[in-house]
Amino acid sequence: MCGIFAYLNHCVPKTRREIFETLVKGLQRLEYRGYDSAGIAVDGPKNGLKDEKNICIIKKRGKVKSLDEELYKKDQMKLDEEIETHFGIAHTRWATHGEPNAVNSHPHRSDKNNEFVVIHNGIITNYKELKKYLVLKGYEFESETDTEVIPKLIKYIYDNRESEDVSFSMLVERVIQQLEGAFALAFKSSHYPGEAVVTRRGSPLLIGVRSEYELSTQHIPIQYNNGHLKDEVQMKNNRNRSDSSCGLHSVGDGKAVEYFFASDASAIIEHTNKVIYLEDDDIAAVAEGKLSLHRMIRQAGEEPVRAIQTLQMELQQIMKGNYQAFMQKEIFEQPESIFNTMRGRICFENNTVMLGGLKDHLKEIKRCRRLIVIGCGTSFHAGVATRQILEELTELPVMVELASDFLDRITPVFRDDVCFFISQSGETADTLMALRYCKERGALTVGVTNTVGSSISRETDCGVHINAGPEIGVASTKAYTSQFVALIMFGLMMSEDRISLQKRRLEIINGLRILPELIKKVLELDSKIKTIADELYQQRSLLVMGRGFHYATCLEGALKIKEITYMHSEGILSGELKHGPLALVDNDMPVIMVIMRDSCYIKCHNALQQVTARQGRPIVLCCEDDPDVKKSAYKTIELPQTVDCLQGILSVIPLQLMSFHLAVLRGYDVDYPRNLAKSVTVE
Ligand code: F6R
Repeated sequence: MCGIFAYLNHCVPKTRREIFETLVKGLQRLEYRGYDSAGIAVDGPKNGLKDEKNICIIKKRGKVKSLDEELYKKDQMKLDEEIETHFGIAHTRWATHGEPNAVNSHPHRSDKNNEFVVIHNGIITNYKELKKYLVLKGYEFESETDTEVIPKLIKYIYDNRESEDVSFSMLVERVIQQLEGAFALAFKSSHYPGEAVVTRRGSPLLIGVRSEYELSTQHIPIQYNNGHLKDEVQMKNNRNRSDSSCGLHSVGDGKAVEYFFASDASAIIEHTNKVIYLEDDDIAAVAEGKLSLHRMIRQAGEEPVRAIQTLQMELQQIMKGNYQAFMQKEIFEQPESIFNTMRGRICFENNTVMLGGLKDHLKEIKRCRRLIVIGCGTSFHAGVATRQILEELTELPVMVELASDFLDRITPVFRDDVCFFISQSGETADTLMALRYCKERGALTVGVTNTVGSSISRETDCGVHINAGPEIGVASTKAYTSQFVALIMFGLMMSEDRISLQKRRLEIINGLRILPELIKKVLELDSKIKTIADELYQQRSLLVMGRGFHYATCLEGALKIKEITYMHSEGILSGELKHGPLALVDNDMPVIMVIMRDSCYIKCHNALQQVTARQGRPIVLCCEDDPDVKKSAYKTIELPQTVDCLQGILSVIPLQLMSFHLAVLRGYDVDYPRNLAKSVTVE
């Protein structure tokens, strides 16, 4: 779980300083994916001279900022020297194997001369076997990482090549045949100056292309190897062919071009909006400025091209603006993000809902045996939050599952099941594995993601994009409320022809129409919530209690609090209070209770009495004008009332704000909580 970024300029003169700046900026955009160490590899002062120690690696423990400072200490680097063609690679790490230190951070190298250097996002599961083999062959390892086998392996293959003329992409093709696990990789080599090779399997990777000249095609053809490794000389010739099939202008045509390789679009968008998403086992190579795509074998029905797509994303969407943290910005964006989730999908004039990505599968979904909603963390909570209304609107049994547990149990899945995979990033390894598991068993798979082109959105049979915009803060906020709305819209779409449900549907659709306005009202409570946080921030624990539609709010609120404030926090189903958790309650233990006017109101009131009877001093999230709650509560946070099944969208926001203020008051970095990363691409 890391971020990779690489940059190649071809016939576009750049100073070394500009190259550093591009690489560092790319890493900063990806820092949310991991931030315990960072590193880059660029050509050294003896740029371009084969057999010299010409690749320079700079790595530093800590955030990208520390690496940035380190770069300029290398004064032999000749910062103002212009370089016409250059390939630089950069990495920000979230440790999986080996502690976070400079040696374990990337790029990793083949040998002391840095002949091959590699950056990696993912995990190599068979690295121990490979390492054993390479050690036997005399290769010396310096780190504790799984990644280091990759540069060693490519050097081994290079050293044992049958022909002098083996191409760089061919070497990489041989490397990935030996790898098991997940990877996005970028390779740089002093044997192939100015050339880049990248590849992926399981981890995301896309390529941005910037050229002053119009790209002459919208598609890049794939060169297949038909399942066997071709004669290497022939591959070399292919590489040098002035074949216009790859479609991108190159030096051969007298054209300049720049390529940006990254784990996600947020690192590319400020340079170009033209991108190519790589598929598993694609190998992309740039030689002499020309991009080519390679694969071993063409599968039946597979498209023999990759499209050059246009990103619909604004740079300002990924900037912090005037907010203290991305998380805070994302909380305040919710009126807009929710609106964007609904935009073009709900027709408020005739009360219809249409999710274009599900349209063709609706009949099949309506015939299914049950719905299974699968996710991790916050995305799982979105399933918990909407389960009741989905059962009501679809009249189907709905199971909500944590992806890891679902897999651990080897849960029975049938051809007539419909499985939903909820994931902001679309890359979460557990959710992705659960998706593959359900697919193998013949179930229809539906993705609900926030990341176009992500693995989950590509591998599911159909899906819904939640359109919440990029979420950078590690703690998920706006994605949760958009997932919530997307799942409710699905329920509404399923119930369109149910006469008995029309009244309920109308009530919900009307509720959705004014939801952005109600969210704005909840956000106005920010300063009140900050005052309560001032009182709570030195506590060690915080309990959050509720039931019915608000059990998910409690789980989600407690997760936000624990992950960014490092306080112990527990989401408790009020119905379970007397079965154990009540023992925790006294006049010291801070308790937040969610008591809204819905079918659980009386029961929640009982829980409130149980807490106050034990000298508890509950802070209650309740509806405006509720004198009964006010009487018993220590403090109240009053929210506008909406339809019961939408109320959870409003009740979670004060807890998002509370966690943010608590974390700031406790002096923590809200966007980068310790030990966590945004996109969890390892099991
Ligand atoms: C919590 C949080 C995580 C994610 C979880 C799944 O704030 O962000 O619990 O929700 O790692 O991630 P996605 O939704 O990307 O699959």
